[in-house]
Amino acid sequence: MNIGIFGAGHMGSAMIKGWLRSEAISPNDLLVRGGRRGTAQTLQEELQFKLTNDNQAFLEQDIIFLAVNTPLILSILKELKETLQDKVIPIVSVSAGVSVKEMQAVMGGSYPLAQAIPNTPVQINQGITGIVYAENIASESKELIQTSFNYLGELVEITEDKIGIFGTLAGCGPAFVDVFMEALSDGAVLNGMDRDMAYHVAAKMVASSANLLLETGKHPGELKDGVTSPGGTTIKGITALEKEGFRYATINAIDTIMN
Ligand SMILES: NC(=O)c1ccc[n+]([C@@H]2O[C@H](COP(=O)([O-])OP(=O)(O)OC[C@H]3O[C@@H](n4cnc5c(N)ncnc54)[C@H](OP(=O)(O)O)[C@@H]3O)[C@@H](O)[C@H]2O)c1
Repeated sequence: MNIGIFGAGHMGSAMIKGWLRSEAISPNDLLVRGGRRGTAQTLQEELQFKLTNDNQAFLEQDIIFLAVNTPLILSILKELKETLQDKVIPIVSVSAGVSVKEMQAVMGGSYPLAQAIPNTPVQINQGITGIVYAENIASESKELIQTSFNYLGELVEITEDKIGIFGTLAGCGPAFVDVFMEALSDGAVLNGMDRDMAYHVAAKMVASSANLLLETGKHPGELKDGVTSPGGTTIKGITALEKEGFRYATINAIDTIMN
């Protein structure tokens, strides 16, 4: 599959790294166009994908991704429409701020389009991406888009009204978990554990707890109950967290972003 992508910043580079890491896509299958600061050139020196400053080069690609800053999405689409003329190549924007309807207003109602919200773990093929397809998208275009995201982790079809909350939970959530792991490690260092060991144990514990939830399908409360013996140390720790409003702080973090 030949993939074209505009933008190699935080999200574009995470997707590029994920595709190359999957080994299903080679550097020669990837065509990238970057912006003025030269981010794409710097990454190209490391990853050796094809780099272009010419939209015509995208005519050879099977699928095109837009991973540029939100205000640029529609102007790049307009440029692409002129380049493509009658040629139809599915286009996926990864901006939370531009809807499929806004993209259709530029490309036309029957053009194969999608709006996707990936998260940064796509770079290690463990992302979760929410996607909204244009209503009448042809099954071949949809399958092509699905295949390209399957290399990056899990793909979940969502409705347009859930894009905001999906981006908040899946996109902002990794930073919440990073802060949690850092704080857990600080607590361990305070009590004598080496810093490197603390980060490793915290990360492994968070990853394996998440995997246990996913693999058993149990309610998180049931898993917590399994670790909290009566009068034991874990329930004492949970009580200390709740005294500081741990659950409220977490719920309020999501709610503050959404409102
Ligand atoms: N970061 C996330 O976790 C995340 C999650 C989901 C969705 N998104 C979406 O992903 C998009 C990009 O976000 P980001 O965080 O990756 O931003 P970013 O780090 O600022 O990257 C933007 C990229 O776009 C490039 N660019 C600018 N103008 C361009 C043009 N005319 N043609 C081609 N490339 C151009 C920039 O190149 P130069 O640096 O060389 O100028 C840069 O590589 C946004 O729409 C955002 O909503 C981000």
